[in-house]
Amino acid sequence: MGGTKKNGEQQHPLPPSLAQSERFVPPKTRRDFLGLAAVWTALGTFFVALVGAMRLPMPSVFPESNSRSKIGPPSAFQKGSATHLVHLQAWIFRDNDGGMYAISSVCTHLGCIAGRQDTGEFLCPCHGSRFNAGGEVLGGPAPSALSWLELSIAPDGQLVLDRQRSVKRGTRLMA
Ligand code: FES
Repeated sequence: MGGTKKNGEQQHPLPPSLAQSERFVPPKTRRDFLGLAAVWTALGTFFVALVGAMRLPMPSVFPESNSRSKIGPPSAFQKGSATHLVHLQAWIFRDNDGGMYAISSVCTHLGCIAGRQDTGEFLCPCHGSRFNAGGEVLGGPAPSALSWLELSIAPDGQLVLDRQRSVKRGTRLMA
């Protein structure tokens, strides 16, 4: 009768004539299967890592292009208006004479979004920094004023806001 492995499986010894035959291919064992699985897993991991490493020099985000946003024609902003573009974290102002400017609503303390009061002042809800209507610090932990952001006109006549480019306080775009 066959022998018994430690785990209780029956093992059938081969007849000596079959075991010595050149045409005999021994059956795959569980150890062979696990070895092959480990090799293929290692190769797959290496391939995925190689693809990831080759992508490293190519940036997924282009900060220059992402910082510029078209926000509509100047006529979309009434004279004397203040418009909060929440998704761009900026306020767009248009004077009564048509001059336009943009002030970032990102607090210079730790980056919370400052809200604008009825008085025209900005108030940060996180630690209480206050800024006047021009963005200058009135109080609180904010170390510097809110940024004035660059506004320009695109060839198609739309206003372009660049959140990465600050301009001198008081700069206005006549539109
Ligand atoms: S983040 Fe605005 S006061 Fe702290």
